[in-house]
Amino acid sequence: MEELRNKYIEAIAAAADEAALEELRVQAVGKKGEVSLKMRELGKMTPEERQEAGPALNALKNEINSALAARKVSLADAALEERLKTEWLDVTLPGRARRQGTIHPVSQVMEEVTAIFADMGFAVAEGPQIETDWYNFDALNIPGHHPARAEMDTFYTHRAEGDNRPPHVLRTHTSPVQIRTMEKTGAPIRIICPGRVYRADYDQTHTPMFHQVEGLALGKDISMANLKWVLEEFFSAFFGTHVETRFRASHFPFTEPSAEVDIQCSWEGGTVKVGEGDDWLEVLGSGMVHPKVLEAGGIDPNEYQGFAFGMGIDRLAMLKYGIPDLRAFFDSDLRWLRHYGFASLDQPTLHGGLSR
Ligand code: PHE
Repeated sequence: MEELRNKYIEAIAAAADEAALEELRVQAVGKKGEVSLKMRELGKMTPEERQEAGPALNALKNEINSALAARKVSLADAALEERLKTEWLDVTLPGRARRQGTIHPVSQVMEEVTAIFADMGFAVAEGPQIETDWYNFDALNIPGHHPARAEMDTFYTHRAEGDNRPPHVLRTHTSPVQIRTMEKTGAPIRIICPGRVYRADYDQTHTPMFHQVEGLALGKDISMANLKWVLEEFFSAFFGTHVETRFRASHFPFTEPSAEVDIQCSWEGGTVKVGEGDDWLEVLGSGMVHPKVLEAGGIDPNEYQGFAFGMGIDRLAMLKYGIPDLRAFFDSDLRWLRHYGFASLDQPTLHGGLSR
């Protein structure tokens, strides 16, 4: 028995892994293991012999079982030790700096414009980019045969063959939001509507998608004088310096009278500077909302009147931040975004400053 004990205790201590341990367990204390076979022989012994051999065999079986368990634990410990060594991590190393995104100049300028107009009591309204031709054209007094429809280089959605309903359009301007707002809230109204618009056009100053901000103010006695004051106030706040404006008589189907508005600028030194010099730059279209447009929006033109304007946001961003090529706005070139982008925590406000 002593021999048996030494053999197994040594072998268990030397076992290299769990599989070897299991093999030893079967050999020693398994159903047909050496110790188990010895136990079966107890039956053939005299009671005296059995009294001595029985407890000794039991003790041996227990000793082998606990040696197996102990070796199993120490093998697991060693494996864990090994893993910890390879998976070691130096938590005192400095972290890896991560690049932060920037706010796109268009988003920044939209926030600036919104802050300035909010201060004058204008709320922000929105509408869909995919419009019906009713909202984009007819309701704005641009009937089907009107040349303005062709001039606008409109994108039309595709209809299945045999589907004769008029196609939807990608809105060519933010003016349809005028009608949607009239329908939704009725007069009086004081809103701006910044958003994306689409025209099939592409060169250094035109992209098929660009941004406009619409303005609409309706009341009982709102006049062209109010329009002029609001726009002058806006441009001076936006450019951070007094900006002269020039109103030129023009024509839009949805305003009467209509005016295009230029802002004062200088081209000295090859770059444009707003608010100085004696050149002019056209930046927006405007006018008194046409009675037919008010009617289309469900508002009585005998009771209410007001002004509307629309201007290009991308254009404003180029002017204010000296960005030369409009196409680069929408290339998603990271170098451009890092150069012209804004820090995300620099929220433009009137009291904190509109731009850095
Ligand atoms: N919708 C016109 C355009 O896109 C701009 C405009 C808006 C003109 C409102 C007058 C009044 O060119």
